[in-house]
Amino acid sequence: MDVEHRGFGDAAVRHVGSDDRLSEAQHRIANNLALIAGYTRLQATRLHKAGRPLSAREACIVLEEVAARIETVGELHRLLSAPGHGDSGVDLGRFLAKLCDSLMETVSFAGDTVITHRDLGGCIVRPDQATPMALIVSELVTNALKYAHPSGVAGRILVSCRSNAGGLVVEVVDDGVGLSETFDPLTDGGLGFRVVRGLARQLGADLVYESGDIGLTVRLTLGADDDHRVIPLWPERGGPDRD
Ligand SMILES: Nc1ncnc2c1ncn2[C@@H]1O[C@H](COP(=O)(O)OP(=O)(O)OP(=O)(O)O)[C@@H](O)[C@H]1O
Ligand SMILES: [Mg+2]
Repeated sequence: MDVEHRGFGDAAVRHVGSDDRLSEAQHRIANNLALIAGYTRLQATRLHKAGRPLSAREACIVLEEVAARIETVGELHRLLSAPGHGDSGVDLGRFLAKLCDSLMETVSFAGDTVITHRDLGGCIVRPDQATPMALIVSELVTNALKYAHPSGVAGRILVSCRSNAGGLVVEVVDDGVGLSETFDPLTDGGLGFRVVRGLARQLGADLVYESGDIGLTVRLTLGADDDHRVIPLWPERGGPDRD
């Protein structure tokens, strides 16, 4: 298999609109399984690029990383399956608030860091957009919890979403050390940034990183026209800038 050219979400099923709840649920499950396949392939690509055999310990860590992402997809699926979620679009603000609560409860290295959530309203997305967006936020918040304050001081993370004429904007902001000058978030990073880039591409969303003296801001913008677009869960193969 040419792992270099397999993208995030390849082998996903298309979302076809249907009123049938069972059929919708099956599509969601199939899409989530495809996301999991995407995670696994991203790891395969990373290992392929490393070009050397793994020790048993390294192999365990790689499998643990994939398992953690699978758990996140499962958790998001549970959230989206809750009554009142997703029938006529998902309220992304509410969804992200629940995600932040759940991250604070489950992430062992959160320490005293505070995650604040600000929902400026009007952020309604399709269920098939909600999970990738939440997965992106989950990666970014997890990174902020892990890396923003290496000294261990309690930091602050702000997750916000708003809707304006340009579309829907989701931001994750921390007040930590920021990215190092030599790190390019558009090409570098581990599974986390590759997942973020792959999912943003899948959503057709713009991704902007601002790293300054204080902290890192990551802004994801889903264009207004994208509301009616079918997300290309089968991205074209061999295109430019593929992870
Ligand atoms: N909010 C942040 N503040 C400071 N550094 C960060 C932040 N987010 C990411 N980084 C840096 O970017 C690197 C790459 O992040 P990335 O999520 O791709 O990989 P990772 O978190 O190390 O591993 P994983 O594959 O488990 O996500 C991190 O190792 C860290 O050095
Ligand atoms: Mg990470």
